[in-house]
Amino acid sequence: MDDHGDVREKILFGKYELQTLLGQGAFAKVYRAKNLRTGQSVAIKAMSLQNVQKGGLTELVKREISIMHRLHHPHIVRIFEVLATKKKIYFVLEFAEGGELFAKVRKGRFNEHLSRRYFQQLISALSYCHSRGVFHRDLKLENLLLDEKLDLKVTDFGLSALTDQIQPDGLLHTRCGTPAYLAPEILANKGYDGAKVDIWSSGIILYALNAGYLPFNDRNIMDMYRQIYKGTFRCSEWTSPELKRFLHRLLDSNPNTRITVEQIMGDPWFKKGYKHIHTDATDCFGLEDYEDNSTQYDFLNAFDIISFASGLDLSGLIGSPDCSIVVERFVSAESPERIIEEVAAKAEEGRMTVVRKKDLGVMVERPNGDIIFTVDIHRLTDKLALQTNKRCTTVWRPMELSKDTARANGCTKNYRKP
Ligand code: ADE
Repeated sequence: MDDHGDVREKILFGKYELQTLLGQGAFAKVYRAKNLRTGQSVAIKAMSLQNVQKGGLTELVKREISIMHRLHHPHIVRIFEVLATKKKIYFVLEFAEGGELFAKVRKGRFNEHLSRRYFQQLISALSYCHSRGVFHRDLKLENLLLDEKLDLKVTDFGLSALTDQIQPDGLLHTRCGTPAYLAPEILANKGYDGAKVDIWSSGIILYALNAGYLPFNDRNIMDMYRQIYKGTFRCSEWTSPELKRFLHRLLDSNPNTRITVEQIMGDPWFKKGYKHIHTDATDCFGLEDYEDNSTQYDFLNAFDIISFASGLDLSGLIGSPDCSIVVERFVSAESPERIIEEVAAKAEEGRMTVVRKKDLGVMVERPNGDIIFTVDIHRLTDKLALQTNKRCTTVWRPMELSKDTARANGCTKNYRKP
């Protein structure tokens, strides 16, 4: 890793301590890390932005980030925040303690009961996302993780569209990685329906959980493609007739006749012991929500290039989940010195104390030492300055701002904890 993500330095953006490398793909590395403030374990997925054209944070990418951030489901890995430098984008994800489901299946196939349990959890996650217009498009056993209770957590939801966007040659790609999960309509290079493609991949997963191997697998890739096209596969002898029938409905090579999520929910094999998960109504959103936020996004649009060019935290883009601090950003043509003078003048009018920071910026405190807000200024060009203003909300109490946080903010003054 390089720049802020240098694993030798171990600390990312002064906020996360990188611990171990969990996995590595063609375009991304995943690390286990610790949030230094809360002690919480997280997974950090680092993707290279090399060769991406300037301004590559397109509307689509921002939209995906916004949607992913709002996916709250017990069987979907949460995305906490997105950070970026000029060269890399970092997704800070919920850490799944139980590791990969793949590792468990490799030790031995699952019985029908356990296969069904995990498949039900997968379909619950798919149903939730599909009804919100979000498709995975790269479902495979490697993307299924387990939490501490050994329940399923689907990872990378919504990330495939992003990956497509930001592959090194800057072109839009359909898929890389193992073709064993690819739906025939993708191989045919036809336009495809994201929901149908996810259902096909879920059929491959169910087959693999129960059989211990993949339904379409051949050393000769063209032979494998032929098998997928035809949709001909054999079920292992221990598969019940009900499961066989169900697998043939999932792995129907015709997307138009393939089973839908609603039909899956009504299937007798699937329904056995299925408990519908009620997600919090406040988590529900339609795609219109995104449009409704246009004011916020218009504002953020102005920061696309700025955010990427200056290696700033993009959490403002998606909102902070444990949002105790309000961050506002704006661009000013004033010099940093002038901005600081203005802030200091206003603060002094209100009998507040102004503390200069090591870098360009100030902290404004009450007489008792409680910090009210900090101003960080990042020079963009000689004529343009970016100001970041962190204000306390009513939720935030000064008690929560520790000495370390103050120090991390570059405050040189001895900070007195209230
Ligand atoms: N490997 C990849 N993503 C992970 C995550 N979110 N938690 C644990 N291991 C992972």
